[in-house]
Amino acid sequence: YSCDVIRNFSIIAHIDHGKSTLADRLLEMTSTISATVKGTNQQFLDKLKVERERGITVKAQTASMFHNHNGRNYLLNLIDTPGHVDFSWEVSRSMAACEGALLLVDATQGVQAQSLSVFHTACERGLTIIPVLNKIDLPAAQPDRITAQMQSTFGIDPADVLHISAKTGQGVEAVLQAIVERIPPPTGSPSEKMKAFLFDSSYDRYRGVISLVSIQNGVLRKGDKIASCYTRKKYEITDLGIMHPEEVSTSQLLPGQVGYIACNMKQSSEDLLCISPYRRYTSPGNGNTHFPPVEWFPAQWEKVYAGVFPVDSNDFIKLEESIKRLTLTDRSVTVQRESSTALAQGCRLGFLGTLHMDVFRQRLEDEYDANIIITAPTVPYKVVYKDKTVFVSNPTDFPDITDPSAKVREVQEPIVKATIIVPEDYLGEMMDLCFLHRAEDMDHRYLDSSSASSARAILTCTMPLSDIVTDFFDKLKSRSSGFASFDYEDAGYQRSNLVKMSFLLNNKPVDALALIVHRSAEQTVGRLWVKKLRASSHTFCLASIDKASPSLCAMLSDKVIPRQMFEVPIQAVVGKRVIARETLSALRADVTAGLYGGHYERKMKHLENQKESKRRMKRIGSVDLPQEAFFDILRTK
Ligand code: GTP
Repeated sequence: YSCDVIRNFSIIAHIDHGKSTLADRLLEMTSTISATVKGTNQQFLDKLKVERERGITVKAQTASMFHNHNGRNYLLNLIDTPGHVDFSWEVSRSMAACEGALLLVDATQGVQAQSLSVFHTACERGLTIIPVLNKIDLPAAQPDRITAQMQSTFGIDPADVLHISAKTGQGVEAVLQAIVERIPPPTGSPSEKMKAFLFDSSYDRYRGVISLVSIQNGVLRKGDKIASCYTRKKYEITDLGIMHPEEVSTSQLLPGQVGYIACNMKQSSEDLLCISPYRRYTSPGNGNTHFPPVEWFPAQWEKVYAGVFPVDSNDFIKLEESIKRLTLTDRSVTVQRESSTALAQGCRLGFLGTLHMDVFRQRLEDEYDANIIITAPTVPYKVVYKDKTVFVSNPTDFPDITDPSAKVREVQEPIVKATIIVPEDYLGEMMDLCFLHRAEDMDHRYLDSSSASSARAILTCTMPLSDIVTDFFDKLKSRSSGFASFDYEDAGYQRSNLVKMSFLLNNKPVDALALIVHRSAEQTVGRLWVKKLRASSHTFCLASIDKASPSLCAMLSDKVIPRQMFEVPIQAVVGKRVIARETLSALRADVTAGLYGGHYERKMKHLENQKESKRRMKRIGSVDLPQEAFFDILRTK
């Protein structure tokens, strides 16, 4: 055994530049994927349903392959990483288990915002970078221009850049060769004290927690005793092996290897990673395991928080367990219990962005069959009192700063440094958009030499995080016809004039709807939002009709639908001031009202259409609120 024949690498790139496609080709060319899978372009590493549906990588995945180079057999461990800005946490975690990275750049699109950020992260980690220009098969590819761009942006020697098409396989053989020749082998010794890096884990119903580890020193064998750093409970390794690309059991894991371990850990809260998955642990191999807290990663930073509640309050325990299991595979989500007067018991979760939140929601529904309501996302605010500073991540806890007895000195909000890369023609449009979102310190420079046609610009500015976690990304894409790319990093906190806006339905405050808004926007937001709430009243009344089932059809044709004659006022309130008001009348909401006896089928169709939205509704007071109402808040913002 020798570390010399091992290469650990990841593929880093901007979203859609072809990481998963290249991973597929590498797996094929090393015969890791069987002939049946071959050629189907099915993105082998994108295992999750949400990944296949959306065509994005969410989770980092690993695969080991064997490759013969100059008569020597090499073990190549690939870690596929996500491309979207929300998942950069996974990217830096995967990099920690590697010595090298393939930096993939699309030959039609050139260097984009995440190409820059992943490049910098890889450099900071001291990884060897192999620059790869992908999609050269496309007629729109501009290999020379993009190579020059890579040279001027990253300081890369054009001679080092590999030109490939991950789709057709052209040039991919040279990638395998470069991995072996350019990336250094891991250093580590089987005789040294056990040291491994845990970078992911998941839950298997039969075998308990399965952890992915990269061995730094020492050897892990079947039957070895390890202990949970959290509960100090001891476990015996029941199975271990490599991902090839599915689990393949081996007798041991050696330094430099990446693989999985299972140790019959049933309780999700007891897993090995509870203290932190981002710390190394050591095990001397005598059953006495120590876990020194080695801080490896920068402190995790949740950017948005949202409440997750079961539609049926009786499902809370089940929901909480599902969330716990899912967070095992996604360590960046933080969980706290939360109770709301409107929505009962639920959990407050912290995410890295709204896409991250949306993906988590979809995974809860897909993989755990959860029926949930998610409240509008909130960023973490700082409220400074005379004697203390409090972080507020739930609008319900935000003080009424219009009330002097609250004794609030100031409120601060998180700020980010944003980087946008865009063709010159869209620069003005992007600046306008940033100004609309309270941007400051705006600056720009050009990426290509000035003589290049349609040169691209890098625009930087600072912006409040709350403005970009909503629909900023969508606006950026549509206003630039999809050409702009965007990335951002933490830039601390800044004093801001923020207020809490509450909403009253039927004169009762609905805590789950409360928002924190900038003073300058309170009128616009208040008015828009009460209008939106009123608009969703359609769903509310139909749900009432639907509830009358099963004698529904008879009732409909006999025109004896019990109409609710009450009116429901909807108000937006800041402090004691009513900012906006609308009145909701139940009659208007009845979309089947005009359809009498003969239109039975049409009535059923209308009601059928409502079924899906009814699934996600929560009865608040005398009003049913659909999930859309909660999502609307963030769009209104
Ligand atoms: P994320 O997982 O979302 O980060 O994307 P990715 O970087 O893994 O990109 P992916 O491999 O999913 O490729 C994005 C799209 O580009 C897919 O439609 C691929 O079929 C296509 N694609 C990838 N490589 C090539 C290539 O060499 N040539 C052509 N023509 N298309 C390619």
